[in-house]
Amino acid sequence: MGVNSMNLFLRLHTGGITLVKLTVNGKAVSVDAADDTPLLWALRDHLKLNGTKFGCGAALCGACTVHVDGEPTRSCSLPLSAVAGRRITTIEGISAKGLHPVQRAWIEHDVPQCGYCQSGQIMSAVALLNKNKKPTDAEIDAAMSGNLCRCGTYQRIRAAIHTAAGKGKGSSNSKASAMTNANVSTKKSGT
Ligand code: FES
Ligand code: FES
Repeated sequence: MGVNSMNLFLRLHTGGITLVKLTVNGKAVSVDAADDTPLLWALRDHLKLNGTKFGCGAALCGACTVHVDGEPTRSCSLPLSAVAGRRITTIEGISAKGLHPVQRAWIEHDVPQCGYCQSGQIMSAVALLNKNKKPTDAEIDAAMSGNLCRCGTYQRIRAAIHTAAGKGKGSSNSKASAMTNANVSTKKSGT
């Protein structure tokens, strides 16, 4: 970590605990945790943003996907020390006005089954559409290949992404939205 980065955030070491400052859903926040705490647990346990899910814990399933500086990233395997001063967007923060077009498309196609993987699926879909406004089936499959769904909702996910692309996906908003976003993503997960 360079001197410039140190100017972006404050890190106070006290008995192995570090105060890390970062931006989550457009808000400056501080997390008091060990350097190697996975971002996922900082989000869920410290910031109470429970829309992001734990699946494998090994960057293999995509359930924990968030955006880090706009890139879809597995938060279960990213230590806090790697995200200090960076811009994090979670499922709760993708729309400031309520439902994101991708979430609306998810509802239209009734995508979720158990719902557990869907927060990560939506975050990957939003990231895809932010870069590619009209993805092909092959491009969707490639972009979503790291997000597993044990319920096999892949066909509905693909259809919903096409629908969201047709309606205009909007962009990831930096301001935190109401928890309705998380509720939609997790409506059947019960977690
Ligand atoms: S929980 Fe992070 S990739 Fe599976
Ligand atoms: S809806 Fe994807 S794991 Fe159940």
